[in-house]
Amino acid sequence: MAVASAPAKVILFGEHFVVYGQPAIAMAVERRAYVKARSREDESIYVSSTDLGISGFFSNDEFELERGGFEDRWRLEPIRAAVKGALDLVGRKVGVDVEVRSSIPMASGLGSSAAVAVATAKAVSELLGAHLTKEEAFRIAYEAERLVHGSPSGIDPAAASYGGVLLYRGGEITPLAVRADFILVVGYTGVKRSTGELVAKVRRDKERYPLVVNPIIRMSGELVVNALNALEKGDLRALGELMDLNHALLSAIGVSHEALDRLIRAAREAGALGAKLTGAGGGGCMIALARLDEAERIALAIERAGGKAFVTKGLSEGVRVEG
Ligand code: PMV
Repeated sequence: MAVASAPAKVILFGEHFVVYGQPAIAMAVERRAYVKARSREDESIYVSSTDLGISGFFSNDEFELERGGFEDRWRLEPIRAAVKGALDLVGRKVGVDVEVRSSIPMASGLGSSAAVAVATAKAVSELLGAHLTKEEAFRIAYEAERLVHGSPSGIDPAAASYGGVLLYRGGEITPLAVRADFILVVGYTGVKRSTGELVAKVRRDKERYPLVVNPIIRMSGELVVNALNALEKGDLRALGELMDLNHALLSAIGVSHEALDRLIRAAREAGALGAKLTGAGGGGCMIALARLDEAERIALAIERAGGKAFVTKGLSEGVRVEG
């Protein structure tokens, strides 16, 4: 048996625009997905998710549902793809049981599916005595993610695999040393949404109105350059202002949501240095930048506005083997 885990992430700057090759900055947070892998007697792949209450068998191209609704197959597919990716890399064709436990809310913009895929690739390879590098775990999970939504940038599996804070651009990952002592408050709207649909909506608008949307995409690239500078200097005020600007760009391409805007307003009124949606938007989560002594007050304001909040210092470790 082997167990591996990988962290959730928030995107600090540049979501959506990263799909079009602009840079983005992500940070791993202390919520993790755990995956336990065991060998099987036969050659099938059995996947179960305790939290989702779904499970099923994949043998050759057949799928047999054990628990859940038939439409739940698409939730298990990327996990199967991560298992296959790891088996192919190691060069083995064996059966595996995979059990997923996760404290990351699903479909919320915290990268739960990528964390599960990264942890799966790692657990399966460890089971077979191979030790995947972070780059290999990232590549396998990235391929698996493509099954869930057509054109992911890869930033989610990059953050889940490498941890910490990183700059991501077109598949290239640069870990960042962050000197600033800041705290993030993450607020969950409780509104689930589909990353794939939101990414597709932006693509449609970009195709229909290129002269409107393309400049916004380029602006995001400039914004990230400024954010890198602010991170390096530890300039919290600038970081907060840039978060507000980033949210305005995301609102301009239509991916915010009234529940997000409500939580963001509440956080700003409670003293946040800046706040924005994080991930695909359309619901899901927002983040607020807080000074050390103000985080709890901001979290309370988010809860009062109807969200669920947690405070994170970030810098969570990337994929790792457990005990
Ligand atoms: O998986 P989410 O919901 O955190 O969003 C991913 C970020 C996007 O930029 C919207 C999509 C992508 O593939 O980068």
